Amino acid sequence: MASRSPDLPSTRVALWRSLKLGYRAEPLLIVIAGVTTIAAAVPDALFALGLKVLADAVVAGNDRTLVAAAVALGALTAASWLLRLVSERANRRFADRATVVIESHVARLQASVASVEHHERPDYLDRLSILRDQVFTLNHLYGALFVTAGAVLRLVVTILLLMSLHPALLLLGLLAVPTVVVSTWRAGAERLAEERGAAQARLARHLFTLATTAPPGKELRVSGVGPRLIHERGAAWRRWYDTVVAARWVSAWWQTGSWALFGGAYVGAVIFVAAAIDGSPGDVLLVLAAGSRLSQYVGQTVQEANFLRGFWLDASRRLAWLEDYAAAHHKRADLPVPTRLIDGIRLEGVSFRYPGTERLVLDDVNLSLPAGAVVAVVGENGAGKSTLVKLLCRFYEPSGGRILVDGADLSHMPVEQWRERTAGAFQDFFRFELPTQHSVGLGDLQRLEQRPAVEVAVARAGAGDVIDRLPLGLDTQLGPTWPDGVEVSFGQWQKLALARGFMRDEPLLLVLDEPTAALDAETEHALFERYADAARNREGAAAGRVTILVSHRFSTVRMADLIVVLDGARVAEYGTHDDLVARGGQYAELYGIQAAGYR
Ligand SMILES: Nc1ncnc2c1ncn2[C@@H]1O[C@H](COP(=O)(O)OP(=O)(O)O)[C@@H](O)[C@H]1O
Ligand SMILES: [Mg+2]
Repeated sequence: MASRSPDLPSTRVALWRSLKLGYRAEPLLIVIAGVTTIAAAVPDALFALGLKVLADAVVAGNDRTLVAAAVALGALTAASWLLRLVSERANRRFADRATVVIESHVARLQASVASVEHHERPDYLDRLSILRDQVFTLNHLYGALFVTAGAVLRLVVTILLLMSLHPALLLLGLLAVPTVVVSTWRAGAERLAEERGAAQARLARHLFTLATTAPPGKELRVSGVGPRLIHERGAAWRRWYDTVVAARWVSAWWQTGSWALFGGAYVGAVIFVAAAIDGSPGDVLLVLAAGSRLSQYVGQTVQEANFLRGFWLDASRRLAWLEDYAAAHHKRADLPVPTRLIDGIRLEGVSFRYPGTERLVLDDVNLSLPAGAVVAVVGENGAGKSTLVKLLCRFYEPSGGRILVDGADLSHMPVEQWRERTAGAFQDFFRFELPTQHSVGLGDLQRLEQRPAVEVAVARAGAGDVIDRLPLGLDTQLGPTWPDGVEVSFGQWQKLALARGFMRDEPLLLVLDEPTAALDAETEHALFERYADAARNREGAAAGRVTILVSHRFSTVRMADLIVVLDGARVAEYGTHDDLVARGGQYAELYGIQAAGYR
């Protein structure tokens, strides 16, 4: 299977979605920010037109137009100032609000992906971590977009104004482009030259240090090499300087050339309007005013567009990718999770390979896990026991085959509903450094605050002794770095994790994946004996609960109703303890070894 990431969605799609997201977050603010930012560019461009009207009115002696033009110019200046002020405020405010919305959007998207594949594939992880870093700045996308749109609009208006005098004046706009290209190129070219000469600069610095600091001082004096060092240093510095200066000259020539070109075109345009097309004094003023700013406008447009492309568009495309990814992994969920199991869970030809890898970790696994049964899974490290558990919990979807819950395909059930009916404790549990009640109560979020529920879970997990030893019982803060927090041993953490796994009263599936590896064999045995009895008798039987127990201890395993032996991605043996022992196969052999060890 190829592990190459799919390409990012197109810029157009990404931008459109980002805009919709912004609009949903703050419809009024985004409109105000967008309209004012873009509109702020216009008065600036129209100023040249006002000047033209004013000049023509002066020449014609038309007082009313003169006053109107003067008022319009004043209004344009005021409007430009006001729009800029409003747009700055609106953008800043919108950006603040947008951050929260975008962050929660990304968090929600990540959480909505049912499997944990994206947490384990390196290429996805990279993409997500970049996105996570960008999330905090993605709110600037909108401001940058509006500013760019404004710059483009101002440029277009200016060129249109010029073209309204004569279409050939478009040329002036085109001849402004080289000035921008050269000044963009110039900075890079000079930096490159500095880097080329860096070795010489370093040498010069090194020689300077040699000649002026204390440690080499004695030897320098004895050998009399001092003057030579100074000479060498000068030479190195000159070599560096020559490289850099040469590059600066070249770039300066280019810049001068491009500006000369634009300057010539500018003068040409003025003469052209005044003489060739017989323009009025107002027309000449228009060319003078609009033309002189053209290069600046082109420059700003290019700069804003580069900025937008370099930073924000990329982030926006990553976000669109995550949206697509989440949507593609949101499975059809049209089957309800049963309230109780009658038949049980069946695996039909289930195969699995971890995303981005080739090897089958589970290969054509067929298993029946009857309702109400406690099923033990044994096998060597890496046999696929934990993987089997992860598939049952739907952390992953099988690569092939199906998992049927009372005959219905598990992959078609809403994953959140299924998770609400699963409970469990894992080998790689997490230490939730919270007040003990919450650390345990997290196992059933709705009953986090219900002390009796937490106490029941603690009792089920045999963790009463852990609580008894805490200074404030269930109110004790866990984790020594917190105020009044206490540290507990690894085994105690494990018991608390187990209690957390026992919080739910009516799980259909309970998985215990080596949750007691840190406890001694006797404790584990006693614990599961009690648990297995309870599961078969009361609550468990009512729900038809399936319990999966992964353990290396055969004293525990033998209590299970059924035992699955995994070997090399396949089911090697399957049956009751007595069956398997009688068969004299792999299980019998392993059991024999351990039992002998205990005797
Ligand atoms: N996230 C993962 N990505 C790739 N391979 C994995 C991942 N997790 C486990 N594996 C591999 O899958 C195989 C089965 O692992 P696992 O189910 O954890 O075994 P067990 O629980 O029986 O010790 C191992 O070879 C392991 O290296
Ligand atoms: Mg494991």
